[in-house]
This record gives sequence, C-alpha cells and structure tokens, in this order.
Amino acid sequence: MTTPRWRPEGPRLNPAERAQLLWIFREEAGLEFPQDTEYVIERKLQDRLLQLNLKDFTEYIRLLRSPAGRPELDQALEEVTTHETYFFREDYQLRIFQQELLPQLKALAEGRRRLTLWSAGCSSGEEAYTLAMLLSDAGLFDGWTLRVVGSDLSRRCIAHARRGVYGRSSFRAVPRDYESRFFAEEAGRLSVLPAIRERCLFLHANLLDQERHITLGRFEAIFCRNVLIYLAEEARERVIQLLHDRLQPGGYLLLGHSESLLHTESPFEAIHLQGDVVYRRPPEGGRSR
Ligand SMILES: C[S@@+](CC[C@H](N)C(=O)[O-])C[C@H]1O[C@@H](n2cnc3c(N)ncnc32)[C@H](O)[C@@H]1O
Repeated sequence: MTTPRWRPEGPRLNPAERAQLLWIFREEAGLEFPQDTEYVIERKLQDRLLQLNLKDFTEYIRLLRSPAGRPELDQALEEVTTHETYFFREDYQLRIFQQELLPQLKALAEGRRRLTLWSAGCSSGEEAYTLAMLLSDAGLFDGWTLRVVGSDLSRRCIAHARRGVYGRSSFRAVPRDYESRFFAEEAGRLSVLPAIRERCLFLHANLLDQERHITLGRFEAIFCRNVLIYLAEEARERVIQLLHDRLQPGGYLLLGHSESLLHTESPFEAIHLQGDVVYRRPPEGGRSR
C-alpha cells in the first residue's frame, strides 16, 4: 500500500477507535493488520476525514456503521488494502503451471473442451491477463473454450482491469516478446490486445461472500496469490473452503510464495513439484497421492 504523508496536525486515532476500525475491516473483508502496521491506518484515513469534514475518527466510525456509509466503507477498504501487482509476477510458478500443470488440466477437462481459470483477488487484472496469455501460448487448446475470471473486492481495481490499459510499472517482469505480441501502445501506455481481453471477465466480489461465487461454476485452476497473507485466520479458513468448493475435483490451487497450507488443516492435498508446492482438490474417489 502507498503511504500518504502523515499529518501531525490532522485527526488522530486513539486505541479504542483503532480497535473499532480493525474490527470493521475484519468483519467486512476478513482483513488483519500486523500490529506494527496498524499506525498506517491513521495515515491512510486522515485524508478521508478531512475531505468529509469530520472532526474525529469517532464520527468517521459512526458513518461507516450507518446504512448511508456503505460507499465510504468501500472507500476506506480501498485505502487500507494492498493492491500491488504486475504481469508475470512470480514467474517461476507460472512456468511450472504452463509446463507441468496445464497438460494435466487439459486431460481433466478433455470431455468438456472448456477450461476456466480464476484469479481470486486479481487487483487491477495483470494476473488474469497473464494467465490468458499463457493459455494462448500453450499450444494445447485448439478449438477449446478458454476463460479467465478475475475478481476483487476493489471496484476501482476491477474498473482498471476492465479497461486493460497499463503503465510501465506493471511490466517489470514481462518477457520481451510478450510485450510486442500481446499489447498495443496507446499514448505512452500499453493496452491488452482484444484477443486476450475477450477471454477475461472481471467481477467485483468479496471472497467472504460464498453465495456470490456459486454462480461462477467450477474452475480447473485458481490463482489466489498474495491475498491470504492479509486475512485473519478465520477469514482465511473460510476463503480456503470457498476456493476448494469452486475447483473441479483434481483441479489446482496456486498461492503466493509466502503463503502455504502445509501446516494448516485443509481439504487440499499438497503436491510437491520441482521448485514449488501447489494444492490439489482431491480427484473424485479420494486422494491419489
Ligand atoms: C496484493 S493484491 C494481489 C494481486 C495479485 N493476486 C497478485 O498476486 O499480484 C491483493 C488483492 O486482494 C484483494 N482482496 C483483499 N481482501 C479481499 C476480499 N475479502 N475479497 C476479495 N478481494 C480481496 C485486494 O483488494 C487486493 O487487490
């Protein structure tokens, strides 16, 4: 998250108000803030209070809790959430996905000739578009229907993802030839080509909202990277169960490099690949390894 300038003369957050705000963010989105970063909340929300002409955080909390405060609650969540992302993030994992997992997923979905991936917590869409490019390049799916769904809590990020136009900072890990093959330059920025965009669908959705996700059907693989690290334990467990339920049996869950289910009770089986651990919903008929 970007940290705005702290204003010592601005409204200050007392411990009771901080506890109430943390509770609201946890209830609403499952978010948890390590103790040493809680102070960042004060900085991030000071500007909101000033813009709304509120005298202190108690008034702000009252607004967030009122029915009329829903848009401001969305805004507050935008401010305190980390949206950092870029194309081809954690590329070693993407290579493993393309080389080792995609052929397996092809076998899994052969009968349907339809493959659907989900970037859960996709931020501004770079991860979902990266997956669509990898599918396009795999050379395995002639005549198949290929879809990538991206979802996020942030309406601002979803609007950005739908536009599909990016600045240089999103390109720090893009292989050179991908840039020329999958993007067009537009006034100094790069837009994703229609052939890739057409495969991607972006939705505003909270991962704590089970009902919202049932209509999405089931996926052959889900990328939920760099999202669980921001969630409280109870929310993490709910989200892991949701991800499991939304996978086809035999489908894979891929997490960020600092996230792991290895020491947690979970319905997944861990599959150790060369250089990475991925998680599989056991195929029908039970665990196979
Ligand atoms: C750090 S970004 C990760 C983006 C991408 N997955 C990546 O690894 O580059 C985390 C994203 O998770 C989203 N997020 C956090 N809590 C969420 C929730 N409860 N439901 C849906 N999205 C959530 C945030 O809005 C943010 O855009």
